[in-house]
Amino acid sequence: MNHSLKPFLSTLRRHVLATPPIWLMRQAGRYLPEYRQIRQTTESFLKCCYTPAIASEITLQPLRRFDLDAAIIFSDILVIPDALGVKVSFEEKLGPQIEILSNEIALKKLTWNITKLNPIYEAIELTAKALPKNVALIGFAGAPWTLAAYMLEGKSSEQFVKARTWAYQYPSGFKELLGVLEEKIVEHLELQIKAGCEAVQIFDSWAGVLNANEIYHWSIAPLKRIRARLKERYPHLPVIIFPRGAGVHYKRYMTECGAEAISIDQHTNLLDFAKQSDCVLQGNLDPLLLASFLPSALQNTESILEGMKGKAFIFNLGHGVLPFTPPEHVQTLIERVKRAYA
Ligand code: CP3
Repeated sequence: MNHSLKPFLSTLRRHVLATPPIWLMRQAGRYLPEYRQIRQTTESFLKCCYTPAIASEITLQPLRRFDLDAAIIFSDILVIPDALGVKVSFEEKLGPQIEILSNEIALKKLTWNITKLNPIYEAIELTAKALPKNVALIGFAGAPWTLAAYMLEGKSSEQFVKARTWAYQYPSGFKELLGVLEEKIVEHLELQIKAGCEAVQIFDSWAGVLNANEIYHWSIAPLKRIRARLKERYPHLPVIIFPRGAGVHYKRYMTECGAEAISIDQHTNLLDFAKQSDCVLQGNLDPLLLASFLPSALQNTESILEGMKGKAFIFNLGHGVLPFTPPEHVQTLIERVKRAYA
């Protein structure tokens, strides 16, 4: 075993550590007063993402407070549509607003301006230099389906009815869109790795709205291809996939995508899943418990720690930290995980 490896990276190589590593999706963000302060004095969310010193500073904020094992670069999955020339903005309370691709003609008008994403790679370089030595840096991207869903729906949605309908109305256009996104995702992830990211996570946040047929062709198969392509250039770089809401299909992601780890949301029974799993698992404390009722969050944490004992496991939430989470709750959670089996 390589003892110089950071705990998070060691676990991704299936080593079982005395204490599971921990990081939290959305560990940087609105629940931290120091983040809200930067947001108030910067003109927009995207401006934060595209200003290397600011993005790096926000990435580091949670590490100054908490004993975390990984940092995730502060950015967003929607920077890819942005670099494709699609108008993207983030409105207070409304969430992301994306210019809708109305038809196949609009698809032909997409352009790709990768230089727009250069500040992200610069932010990664800055952050890699500033990180504590045991903390790993994670890069990320949205999966093709989740990005397509936003580009066809224009915003978050419960069922993404418009996006799925578009896919049936214009099947060849939809296939082309997924293909374009697949290319750009690979390119963006490779450049993040080149800049200093030591692992990447791919978020398929809306996998859960797809039916059994769609989930294979629009989510599992593209993730499998993306994973294989990253392997060609970076054979040892670990990939985590997060097909949020995949339910009964989680197993198929695990067996077919070739990822080193799979992130489990809070709707799936992690301990049951672990019994039939042979890859590294990450998850899955319910973010609402962490925000709203710490005693229940700690109870849930105990059962996760107990059930995952002896396995290569990364502690995380089932989804991102909610904006109304008290930072003290996060502190208590991390302290508890750090003395997991003491
Ligand atoms: O700390 C981290 O996790 C890194 C930063 C990060 C953000 N977005 C910052 C952000 C990451 C990894 C993401 C990924 C992301 N973005 C996903 C996948 C994960 C998931 O939540 O399922 C998705 C679907 C998006 C798209 C997106 N961006 C939405 C739906 C929203 C609005 C909802 C919300 O939480 O406000 C955003 C905005 C966003 N991305 C914020 C942050 C900190 C809030 C913007 C603000 O500060 O005003």
